[in-house]
Amino acid sequence: MGVIDSYADYLPVTENTPKLSLGEGGTPLVRSSFIGPQLGIPDLYFKLEGCNPTGSFKDRGMVLAVAKAIENGYGKILCASTGNTSAAAAAYAASAGIESVVLVPRGDVSQGKLSQAIAYGAKVIVIDGRFDTALSIAREMVDTFNMCLVNSVNPYRLEGQKTASFEIVDEIGLSPDELFIPVGNAGNITAYWKGFKEYDEKKQKGVPRMMGFEAAGAAPIVLGRTVESPDTIASAIRIGNPASWVSAEQARDESNGLIDTVTDEQIIESWKKLARSEGIFCEPASAASLAGLLKLANNGTDFSGHRVVCVITGNGLKDPSFAAENAESKPLNVAANIDSVAAALGI
Ligand code: F0G
Repeated sequence: MGVIDSYADYLPVTENTPKLSLGEGGTPLVRSSFIGPQLGIPDLYFKLEGCNPTGSFKDRGMVLAVAKAIENGYGKILCASTGNTSAAAAAYAASAGIESVVLVPRGDVSQGKLSQAIAYGAKVIVIDGRFDTALSIAREMVDTFNMCLVNSVNPYRLEGQKTASFEIVDEIGLSPDELFIPVGNAGNITAYWKGFKEYDEKKQKGVPRMMGFEAAGAAPIVLGRTVESPDTIASAIRIGNPASWVSAEQARDESNGLIDTVTDEQIIESWKKLARSEGIFCEPASAASLAGLLKLANNGTDFSGHRVVCVITGNGLKDPSFAAENAESKPLNVAANIDSVAAALGI
C-alpha cells in the first residue's frame, strides 16, 4: 500500500499530494531466534528496514519528500548522501518522472548504493570531500538553484520515517521498552521519537527509551564536538557533523535514553551474529543497533522481561564487498562431479 496511503491521517498530505508509492513500509518485525533467548530477552525483535523497495529505511521519508516536492512545483530534487538516501531519491524521482541529482563523498559510498543511483537515472556527482561537505554544498545549491533538497533536513523526510514507529507499536500491541538504532546524520532517531510520541498521544501505548549508537570513530554527539575526519567501516554513518544533532539529543533526553558509541569490531561481530544466528543480512551500519544492545547487556544492564527492538536500517546486499572482506569462510572450488562435492564436504 505504501506509507502515504497507509498513514495519510498522520502525515501532512493534502488532496494535491501525489499518491506516490513503490510499496515502502510494512516491513517485517522479526522475533529473535537465538540472540534474544541467549540474553534472557525473549521479546527481542528486529525491524527489517532493508526490506523496503530500495533496500533501506530511507524510502519511507523519500516517498513523502518527493510527493511534496512535486506538489510544490519542483521538477528536480537534490541530496547529499553516504549512499542510501541517494538510492531512494533516485528511485522515487524516477517513479515520479522528475530529475534527481545526488552528491556523494568520494570513496565513502558502497558500490551497491552507487550502482542503484546510477541505474535509477540520477545525475551522480562525486565530491572530493566528505559527507558533511557534500551536505553543505547541497544546502547552498538549493538557495541558488530551483531544486528541492531531500536530505533529512527536509521535514517531510522525518514525517515519512516516523511511520516505522507506528508499525512497531501496532505489531507488538504496545511500545517497546527500548529502541536501539544506529545514528549517523541523526534524522532517523529524531523521526522514530516523533512517531512514538504522536502515536502515544492517540493510542496511549507508551514510548520507548531511545538508544542511539554512533560508530566510535564518527561520534560527534557522544564527544560533544564535530569530528573533522570521521572514520568507521560503517560508511553509511561516517558523519562528523549530523544535521539533526539537537533533535537527536532531545529524543535521547525526553525518552530517558542514551546515545553511545560502538567500535568497528563490535559492529562487525554483531553483523556476523545477525547473519549467522538470525538469518538477517544487513549492511554494517545497521548492525550498530544490535552492537549497542550487546555492549550494554555485556556491561551488566538487565533487559530481562523488556520488549526490545533493534532497527536494522539497510540490506546486506548494499555492501557486498564488506561482506566478502569479512566472510568467515570461502566458497570451495571443486570438479563437477558428486565425489568431489562429497569430498569437499568431508562426507
Ligand atoms: N543506517 C543506514 C543503513 C544509513 O544509510 C543511515 C544513514 C543510517 C543508518 C543513519 O541514519 O542518518 O538518520 O542517523 N544514511 C544517510 C545516507 C546519511 O546518506 O544514506 P541517520
